[in-house]
Amino acid sequence: QIERKRKEGRMQHSNHYSSLSTMIPLLLLCLASLTAANSNPTDGNTQGKWTVLDDNLKPCIMMYAQIDLRLNYYKEDDSLSESVELPVPADSTTENSSCYEKVQIGDEFEIDSQVLQLNFPENAGWNVRIYFTQDPLLGVDPGDYALYQVTVTSNSSSTDLFKDAPKDHVHTYFSPIDFTDNPAIANDEYTRVGDSIYCPSAQGYFINEDPNYGPDAFITLSQLQMQAYMQGSDAFGKKWTCPADQTDVDIVPVIVSGVLALLVLFTLIAYFVYRSRLPTDILAMTEPEFEEEDEHNHKDHNNINHHDNYGYNEEDHRF
Ligand SMILES: *[C@@H]1O[C@H](CO)[C@@H](O)[C@H](O)[C@H]1NC(C)=O
Ligand SMILES: *[C@@H]1O[C@H](CO)[C@@H](O)[C@H](O)[C@H]1NC(C)=O
Repeated sequence: QIERKRKEGRMQHSNHYSSLSTMIPLLLLCLASLTAANSNPTDGNTQGKWTVLDDNLKPCIMMYAQIDLRLNYYKEDDSLSESVELPVPADSTTENSSCYEKVQIGDEFEIDSQVLQLNFPENAGWNVRIYFTQDPLLGVDPGDYALYQVTVTSNSSSTDLFKDAPKDHVHTYFSPIDFTDNPAIANDEYTRVGDSIYCPSAQGYFINEDPNYGPDAFITLSQLQMQAYMQGSDAFGKKWTCPADQTDVDIVPVIVSGVLALLVLFTLIAYFVYRSRLPTDILAMTEPEFEEEDEHNHKDHNNINHHDNYGYNEEDHRF
């Protein structure tokens, strides 16, 4: 009996350990994905951090982002240039931004807006304006806000990127607002008032791609967190993660799978603890195959096995 009990004990241990050894890599995997999700690739200097203050010196707009532009322009001979790429400097200033601006759209409409204007410090006349609104005319639901337009103003004389361009030519890249068809950017950069929009991976949008309104312009936003229509807070509200980033970054499924893995582990441990407390006869009855598996490990195995089989048959007869 004692010999048998020891043997059972040993078997339980080996089973216990093998389930642990399959669980541990799983847990490590969970931890690894947790840390991976937490470390965004941040490129330090290229991410600008801009805040627009209202009359009470509270932020109405906050934007952390790396912004890159791709622009075409007309040369002196009226031919269209190759596209040039340039970043919006991280140290751009925010003069002429506004928490309350009526933006004239067409002849009839004025849209209440908040506007972040980023002025390039080393390029006179260059700026990017980013417009937010809550106006239902632009399809924004009550209690939400959206980024609905971006414009870029360039000055051919204050950059060396616009080769062969006419001197002192100032051009503003934009798309006219179409009330029946919101631009893609308005559909993406959209959330509840009080929440911030969070999009770590790069997202690109055309500012203009219609030759009737001048040369093309394209904007790429990355490492983005922004919020407009802030309500007296100095910090970003709850993050609303862009659809494009939800699968990589959303930490909830990672936590849930980690918790599930732990539950499975504890269930297994509880099972083996419970099993180790069962009388050995019942064990032999419920799991005779354990005895067989163990065959090659024991010299004295045959004796025991005979004994077991005998006992087992005896029990069988009784039922
Ligand atoms: C801000 O607006 C004022 C008035 O329209 C203008 O004179 C000034 O040049 C603007 N500043 C910038 C940096 O755009
Ligand atoms: C364009 O750049 C030139 C050269 O830096 C500067 O003299 C001029 O004032 C700028 N134009 C505007 C509208 O800012």
